[in-house]
Amino acid sequence: MNKIRAAITGVGGYVPDYVLTNKELETIVDTTDEWITTRTGIKERRILKGENQGVSVMAIAAVKEMLAKTKTNPAEIDLIIFATITPDMTFPAAANIVATAVGAVNAFSYDMGAACSGFLYGLTTGASFIESGRYKKVIVIGGDKMSAILDYTDRTTCIIFGDGAGCVLLEPTTEDVGVMDYILKSDGTGENFLHMKAGGSRLPATHDTVDKRQHYVYQEGSSVYKFAVTNMAEVSAQVAERNHLTKENISWLVPHQANKRIIDATASRVGITEDKVMMNIERYGNTTAGTIPLLLWDYEKKLKKGDNLLLAAFGGGFTWGSVYVKWAYNS
Ligand code: UT7
Repeated sequence: MNKIRAAITGVGGYVPDYVLTNKELETIVDTTDEWITTRTGIKERRILKGENQGVSVMAIAAVKEMLAKTKTNPAEIDLIIFATITPDMTFPAAANIVATAVGAVNAFSYDMGAACSGFLYGLTTGASFIESGRYKKVIVIGGDKMSAILDYTDRTTCIIFGDGAGCVLLEPTTEDVGVMDYILKSDGTGENFLHMKAGGSRLPATHDTVDKRQHYVYQEGSSVYKFAVTNMAEVSAQVAERNHLTKENISWLVPHQANKRIIDATASRVGITEDKVMMNIERYGNTTAGTIPLLLWDYEKKLKKGDNLLLAAFGGGFTWGSVYVKWAYNS
């Protein structure tokens, strides 16, 4: 009998309406459109405005769109995995909120926190549930409301990130498509360079933690950059090499959108030209776990059954990895 693989059979996405441009950021912090564009490739990002709007708002919209497009009955969903570091609350899981809101009444659901690599961790976990033969329909969501944890007085972080969410549906197939291979990595020493200090069990929220602005993203950008540029490129090359993927037969590189210079370095390491690199960093910035599913959402119409996609990410933890996906359908 042929091996059961997990095929991506649908995608959905959502970005909020509010566009925060580099020009507007010039009025908030000491920066310029020119600096942001040349150092990161970002021109604008989306921000979720309004009271009581958690990340689940975006995820619910993305999942509803995907369910409608694929004509999937939500009651048939077995599992929802939500990769996010900005859940609506510490608990319950944002995935539980999403499952109920979309009518996935028979699903179990949980969150997964692996920062910018979260979607790759979620995708491979979801694929394993499908490959086990026990589950038939799994939704993997990646999304973050980064604006909730950004310090808009810190020009080194607030210019990079934006809000958004995307999702995929995984279903079993015995065809030679789907999640084919992956390498995932983590290294806890990354804590020193990229973290949010307070609000967890080590340093719960107090007036003092608020006064010290410890509920915001802290990043030593240039250190993270050095780790990211080396590791994202290296792991992508390893997955490519062991699957005989070359610049000729890779259809698309699907890289986490943190910095255009990191994306370019990864493409160059695997020998891929810019026309085969999915990119939306200029419009959305870094949406953390949202970047890769939002790319799939943006490029869905260009994808053909049998296309070889090399997904790659690097982020807080540190966490990083690369996943080889063979696309399963024509739009
Ligand atoms: O997705 C999760 C993982 N995160 C990443 O992968 C991010 C990796 N890091 C980066 O993308 C880059 O390091 C940044 C975009 C964050 C920063 O770019 P950089 O080229 O590494 O700049 P830098 O931090 O080395 O700073 C260079 C200069 C500094 O000024 P001095 O000390 O040379 O006078 C900064 O103060 O640029 C200054 N600077 C800015 N200037 C204008 C930093 N941020 C800004 C800004 N506008 N927004």
